[in-house]
This record gives sequence, C-alpha cells and structure tokens, in this order.
Amino acid sequence: MSMIPLHRMNICAVLGPDRIEALVRAFYLRVYADDDPQFRSMFPDDMESAIQNLSEFLVQRFGGPPRYSERKGAPALRARHARFSITRPMVERWLAHMRAAMQEVHIPEDLRAPMDGFFTETAHFLQNSESE
Ligand code: HEM
Repeated sequence: MSMIPLHRMNICAVLGPDRIEALVRAFYLRVYADDDPQFRSMFPDDMESAIQNLSEFLVQRFGGPPRYSERKGAPALRARHARFSITRPMVERWLAHMRAAMQEVHIPEDLRAPMDGFFTETAHFLQNSESE
C-alpha cells in the first residue's frame, strides 16, 4: 500500500462527518473510562463538548467544512494544550485509545496509515512535559 500524504487525500470525503464523529465518540468513551487518574482528570466533565471540539477539528483537518474555526478560531493546538501536563506516557495513552477506536469503527484499511501517521505526529508534537 502506498502512503498518500494527508494533504492530498480528502479523508472527510471518504468517511463523511458522521463517521468521523463516530470515531471521536468511540475514542472519548475510552478516554472517559481510562483508569489512570492523571490522564482522565485532564478532561472536562462535559464529554459532549469534548466530542464536538475534536469532531469539528478533524472534519476540518481532513478536508471537510471549517466548522471548528468558524466556532472557535485558529486551532492553535499547542496553545490549547498548554494548560495540560502532557508527558510521553500521556501521549501513548491518547494514541492507544485512538488506535482502538479506529479499529472499533472499522476505518477502511487504506485510511489507517495516513490517519495513524497524522495522529502520531500531532500527539508527539503536543508533548509539553518531560516529567512523569
Ligand atoms: C497527546 C495527548 C493529548 C492529550 C493528553 C490531550 C488532551 C486534551 C484535553 C484534556 C482537551 C480538552 C478537551 C476539550 O475541552 O475539548 C483537549 C482538547 C483538544 N484536543 Fe487534545 N490531547 C492530546 C492530543 C491531541 C491530538 C493528537 C489532537 C489532534 C489530532 C488533539 C486535538 C484536540 C482538539 C482539537 C481539542 C479542542 C481544543 C479546544 O477547542 O479547546 N489533541 N485535548
């Protein structure tokens, strides 16, 4: 399978916004059930708002309508994550939940590698703490 760069592939056109939201819901159900208090306690009580934020961001980033920026402005992900202490183990937990969610909602095989590559790169970019 060839790796198609994310910017040349409209993932949203293939999956549609509803499947992207289903992915994010499956992801956040796992996040909110996580038994590591350091990880779980970062996330707000309102799971539905977290689902809306990440769903709209991903629809936009994957080539769909820019609802996220219309509602909230520039994604500025580093800045929006600055108030959380994101260590390497937190990065790995986030990615593990997202990979499990991609399996759960049956993301098509040819989208797995580009999506996983994007999530992996972004999650490591968001690590902002060395401490445990
Ligand atoms: C590296 C591990 C990560 C941790 C621990 C983390 C944690 C969080 C937390 C606690 C929130 C607040 C929930 C909310 O109010 O929406 C959040 C928001 C968000 N995260 Fe992450 N995140 C991580 C990685 C990522 C990645 C890889 C992406 C993108 C692919 C991402 C995209 C977002 C977006 C778009 C928001 C909403 C920001 C806003 O509008 O305020 N995050 N994240």
